[in-house]
Amino acid sequence: MNQLFRKKSLESLLFEANSESGLKRELTARNLIALGVGAIIGTGIFVLTGTAAANYAGPAIILSFILSGIGCVFAGLCYAEFASMIPIAGSAYTYSYASLGEFIAWIIGWDLILEYLFASSTVAVGWSGYFVSFLHDLGIHIPEQLSQAPFDHIAGQGWVATGSIMNFPAVALVLLITSLLVVGIKESSRVNNIIVFIKVAVILLFIGFGISYINVENWTPFIPENTGKFGQFGISGIFTGAGVIFFAYIGFDALSTAAQETKNPQRDMPKGILISLAICTILYVAVSAVLTGMVNYTELNIPAPIALAIDKAGKGLMWLRPFIKIGALAGLTSVVLVMLMGQPRIFFAMAKDGLLPKSFANIHPKYGTPYLTTLLTGITSAIIAGILPIDILGELVSIGTLLAFAIVCASVIVLRKTNPDAPRSFKTPFVPWVPLGGVIICLAQMAALPLDTWIRLLGWMAIGIVIYFLYGRKNSLLKK
Ligand code: ALA
Repeated sequence: MNQLFRKKSLESLLFEANSESGLKRELTARNLIALGVGAIIGTGIFVLTGTAAANYAGPAIILSFILSGIGCVFAGLCYAEFASMIPIAGSAYTYSYASLGEFIAWIIGWDLILEYLFASSTVAVGWSGYFVSFLHDLGIHIPEQLSQAPFDHIAGQGWVATGSIMNFPAVALVLLITSLLVVGIKESSRVNNIIVFIKVAVILLFIGFGISYINVENWTPFIPENTGKFGQFGISGIFTGAGVIFFAYIGFDALSTAAQETKNPQRDMPKGILISLAICTILYVAVSAVLTGMVNYTELNIPAPIALAIDKAGKGLMWLRPFIKIGALAGLTSVVLVMLMGQPRIFFAMAKDGLLPKSFANIHPKYGTPYLTTLLTGITSAIIAGILPIDILGELVSIGTLLAFAIVCASVIVLRKTNPDAPRSFKTPFVPWVPLGGVIICLAQMAALPLDTWIRLLGWMAIGIVIYFLYGRKNSLLKK
């Protein structure tokens, strides 16, 4: 039992953080903020806002964004404390290794695969949809056979064949980004800067020009009356809406996996995490306000709500239409990029600790990137994106991420008790209240997710636990 909860000491982690890892230290605070915004703004705002408003919250989706944003800011503050204190690529995995012990750390490392690897596949599938429709507008038609998953999961029927071969655009995107990530963190970050500039510009254009088309009548009733069922409008709808759009906030934590590639992680990691989160929260609240002001929420149950708002505005805004698609394509591309960047670095940290095979920690001699795990992640993500439908994955990503956030928040409280005097260049304010608030909000959002998602999460964890007992426990460096 004691073995399961053996902990890495802070001293050894700090030694590791300061010694040569082979990874190149290239990133500045500005790069980190761009990577954060790159990871956060994506499917959530471009796709989910509409359905969440139409089905759960109405115009009060604005409050759902604020609520979910508060939970993420609490988690973000805890991540910022850890990322500045233990600047190691393993992120939540490493933080829990120091605070809660090896077994929980493994569970979290395994859980993070749900977040990063599956999120990259999910978002790549969303990207493919926008890409096909963008080409369609240009007169180029990609048949469904080549742009959809060969399998679908239908409630009551189980898995059915769709007649398609594979989602080729999604596969191509993932492989292209994987190659970029192998070549270098600096190159990847440069491409990300450009993409982020485009998507933020498009969102600002939508907010700036959309404001004058707001019809305040669309905001009444602001909180539509509950239908009698929990989560369908009314106050409970605001909470369910928050659980659904939580996906929109996922990503700021991926930044912390770049800690060993940051020039001054102690100073810049908290800036990167908190500033990118603040920028996105403000943009999300503004977009949801403009969107529900331009279109009545009852009409928003569609996959491209922002495009609908522009169509509704009539001729005056028609010029913005192609830009919205370009913005969405850019947005989703950078999310895939940062997620595919995060996963290999978690594997890297786990392999360094002996919980995964040593080769997972190989660094490319010229590019200074964890190229083997980057390739492994990219190829697996491409296969998943090519053959599975999007909805099965999305909620699994959310539940996995919420679990990681809850454990990171709890770890802050634990480490403040066990190592009160350790140097912390950034401190979460109002401990234990902020981390405790983070734990409660994350657990509440997990509880709102469907039973099926819970069962898949538990199944995934069961596989992970078997692997740990067959491999990790015996090979753990801490044991040796
Ligand atoms: N936050 C990311 C998105 O919305 C995962 O696509």
